[in-house]
Amino acid sequence: MSMSSNVMSASLSSLASARPADPCTLVIFGASGDLTRRLLVPALYNLAAGGLLGESFSIIGVARPALSCEAFRSGLEKGLREFATRPVDERIASSMFSSVDYVQGDFDDPKVYEQLRQTLERVERTRSTRGNRLFYLATPPAAFALIGGQLGRSGLAREEKGAWRRLIVEKPFGTDLASALNLNRQLLSVLNENQIYRIDHYLGKETVQNIMVLRFANGLFEPIWNRDHIDHVQITVAESLTVGTRGRFYDATGALRDMVPNHVFQLLSLVAMEPPARFDANAVRAEKAELLDAVQIHSAADALSNSVRAQYEAGAVADRRTEGYRQTKDVDPGSTTETYVALKLLIDNWRWAGVPFYVRTGKALRSRLTEVAINFKRAPFTMFRDTPVDRLTRNFLVLGIQPCECIDLQFNAKIPGPSIAIKGVGMTFDYKDYFEAAPSTGYETLIYDCMIGDATLFQRADAIEAGWRVVQPFIDAWREAGATHLATYKAGSEGPEQADQLLARDGRSWRPITE
Ligand code: BG6
Repeated sequence: MSMSSNVMSASLSSLASARPADPCTLVIFGASGDLTRRLLVPALYNLAAGGLLGESFSIIGVARPALSCEAFRSGLEKGLREFATRPVDERIASSMFSSVDYVQGDFDDPKVYEQLRQTLERVERTRSTRGNRLFYLATPPAAFALIGGQLGRSGLAREEKGAWRRLIVEKPFGTDLASALNLNRQLLSVLNENQIYRIDHYLGKETVQNIMVLRFANGLFEPIWNRDHIDHVQITVAESLTVGTRGRFYDATGALRDMVPNHVFQLLSLVAMEPPARFDANAVRAEKAELLDAVQIHSAADALSNSVRAQYEAGAVADRRTEGYRQTKDVDPGSTTETYVALKLLIDNWRWAGVPFYVRTGKALRSRLTEVAINFKRAPFTMFRDTPVDRLTRNFLVLGIQPCECIDLQFNAKIPGPSIAIKGVGMTFDYKDYFEAAPSTGYETLIYDCMIGDATLFQRADAIEAGWRVVQPFIDAWREAGATHLATYKAGSEGPEQADQLLARDGRSWRPITE
């Protein structure tokens, strides 16, 4: 268990109390890609520097390019130097890279797995990795089921003689409900659920992990965390980044699939789930799945009226001229793919009946801002009726995920002076300043947890499927609606006006998208 008992109790900078991970071989499929150099290698280095890699550790890359083992290793070293989040200590780096191998070939070729077997057996004979294997699918999603199947057939992922075999699957996990069900079915036909680690990098963020601690380690919030006291909740994942060079991927994906069933629903489930009985993977993940299962599934008509999808047009983000989405390289000039989505969701359980959860995410917006804002019901105004006070500002508890890593409580205070006048003020706890965490990639905790067998921060099959079940009616309704339900917004704005109307019709408004 733990989230991790180790990792949650201390951020990377103070992981001193954590035990080193189990010895193992990390097999990276798609190892020649960006993810390995940009994130995995710097994250592994940070673990090594913190004394958290197992005493015996080795890396095997599997990919298509014809590379020598030496060339692969030096690519990893270069990646580390380019993307390390802290100064690199040569001693630590060379010990981390002391066992690096490379297997070249196509993922559907059984010979690749035979060669991988031989390499693994050699490494396991010469290094004391105890036969533990961590397979990492850093490939395009189309290869996930294929590699999973080959690992199953070749027996490479079979747990035996006390050795563990685990599989990390990157996102996106499916492109709709049917494909997610199918992928789960295929992976679960060769591996057990407890061997599969479906990654969502949002769960590697300290501020996301902290939502659970804020809610359940304080007596203060939970008694008022329900429909009696909360008016509504806003979840915002706004990016100022445009689609950039990812046109091909993005045009086939869109904001809904890219962000909602994964990152946005992680935030939703942590904020809204019931308290788990224990701090362990099964209890936590059961509550998260239960929550997603309770989100109302819209009919096609309701899906349209409770959603807004939009595309950005040319504008300026942070004073930089930005071309419109349809002008982006590799994007269909007549594309109806959304770069922005806003949804109104309702949760059918006792805690949340009648409390709307408004979620929005988009690209090319005014600022980068990820936050969860809990709006408490207004105090009765009666007492102030005969005073100069004309209104009370809304009480928000804002959980700032990024870039501001903070918790902000907004309430009304009296403006000093002889007459009664009121102003909304805020009390802010700055997570980063307070704990002075060492810069990290966000992948450290996730990789470490796989190596110690703690799945708390990974998505279980049922939660993934419950998430897609909520999203599917929007996918279907938008496909039917074609271009008719597609709004636009200017790059650098706060999104389409239709998103404002979604809240305005309920007498509410979005919080501003500003850092
Ligand atoms: C990825 C999406 O999963 O998350 C990207 O594919 C998005 O489109 C990114 O930009 C956002 O992650 P973060 O950590 O920058 O909020």
